[in-house]
Amino acid sequence: MTGVPGTARPDIAHPATYAHGVPHAEFARRRRDEPVAWVDEPLLTRHSASGRITERGRGYWAVTTHAAVQEASRRTGDFSSGRAGAFLVDPRTPADLRQTRQLLISMDAPQHVRIRRLVTSVFTPRAVGGLADGVAAHATELVRRAVRAGELDVVTDLAAELPLLVLCDLLGVPRTDRHLLYRWSNHLVGFDDPEFGGGDVDAYRRTFAEAFTYALELAAERRAHPRADLISRLAVAEVDGRRLSDREFCMFWLLLVVAGNETTRHLIAGSLSALVDDPEQRDRLVAGTVPMAAAVDELVRHVTPIMQFRRTATRDTELAGQPIAADDKVVLYYTSANRDPAVFTEPDRLDLGRNPNPHLAFGIGPHFCLGAHLARHELAALLRAILPHLPSLVRTGPEIRLESNFVNGLKSFPAQIR
Ligand code: HEM
Repeated sequence: MTGVPGTARPDIAHPATYAHGVPHAEFARRRRDEPVAWVDEPLLTRHSASGRITERGRGYWAVTTHAAVQEASRRTGDFSSGRAGAFLVDPRTPADLRQTRQLLISMDAPQHVRIRRLVTSVFTPRAVGGLADGVAAHATELVRRAVRAGELDVVTDLAAELPLLVLCDLLGVPRTDRHLLYRWSNHLVGFDDPEFGGGDVDAYRRTFAEAFTYALELAAERRAHPRADLISRLAVAEVDGRRLSDREFCMFWLLLVVAGNETTRHLIAGSLSALVDDPEQRDRLVAGTVPMAAAVDELVRHVTPIMQFRRTATRDTELAGQPIAADDKVVLYYTSANRDPAVFTEPDRLDLGRNPNPHLAFGIGPHFCLGAHLARHELAALLRAILPHLPSLVRTGPEIRLESNFVNGLKSFPAQIR
């Protein structure tokens, strides 16, 4: 465990801490003793053509209670997504900041409202319902293959594959190119993991360039031959009477590629892991004594695949009694909010029938996750397909976790269906 220097406490800012699991006991302590508290960031090593560099972020306020995460998410005038982007790591250069601000997630009103409007209709429950047959067919086929093989890695064979296949259908990307989407998101989200991004700044930039080239070719093709997919729609979409620029289009595309596959992958893998570890809850699901919708939301809460997003204070203000200065970094820990005993009874327990379940795993406020219905839908489809085999799904080796302070992810979960 990577600790805070001079204490026995795990360092919640360090990506390596999470290789051993989310430090829930530390988050419980923070909620109790210091719900909004300053965190010094660790020194991290990066690589580039010009050699090794060490970087240290400027520190941030960690927000850990449900009430404070909710409040900061809603006070968008005080806590901005656009000022320095929605990610914990500060943009390295002014050009990086400009690029980050072209991501929907890193915009403020009114631009955020205008751009988000372009795609909201694609993600309504009704529109997602229209994808149901395709999602169910993919889930059934993946489970059928896994059962036939007997041996599987839950992460690569099931959890990664389903969102990639669904995303290809949604975006209109050939299914055979899904490994590209997989590699790009591994490199970007897994930037800190030695096996994926490895802290290599040049490789990170190359991944952007590669994904953008692909997106621009796709856009040109769809402008010439429009189809009924999301890419065709974005390629000709106009905001305030003008088309999205190439760069705006590419950033939107990349956000969908990363947000649409990585998150759901970790939700599915984390959910199956939790169910294997908790036969009592697994049996409730198999017996059909809990509604699927409630079970899915409880798994989303329990796993909380995205652990945090960031805001920046726009002025001197306060949050939960803590003074915060203009331009301070403020990090909203959904993973902690979702285990706040002030809101959830026995928060560490998986209770598939939990109701109500006001978790914040998809955020809250104007940036509420666009893909929430789709993600829930994918997990439900996979659970339905695997349900008859769930009691015979067993671990055959240790899980390997992603080194990331952003997503709660598994890289490997070796298993058998006996
Ligand atoms: C379990 C799966 C998922 C989780 C846990 C998750 C989590 C989140 C969270 C916490 C936010 C809010 C960010 C903020 O407040 O700064 C968000 C936003 C977003 N999500 Fe998801 N997400 C998931 C799946 C998806 C999927 C499947 C898609 C698309 C196909 C998607 C697309 C987006 C987009 C575009 C935004 C930005 C919305 C905005 O800024 O207005 N997400 N997501």
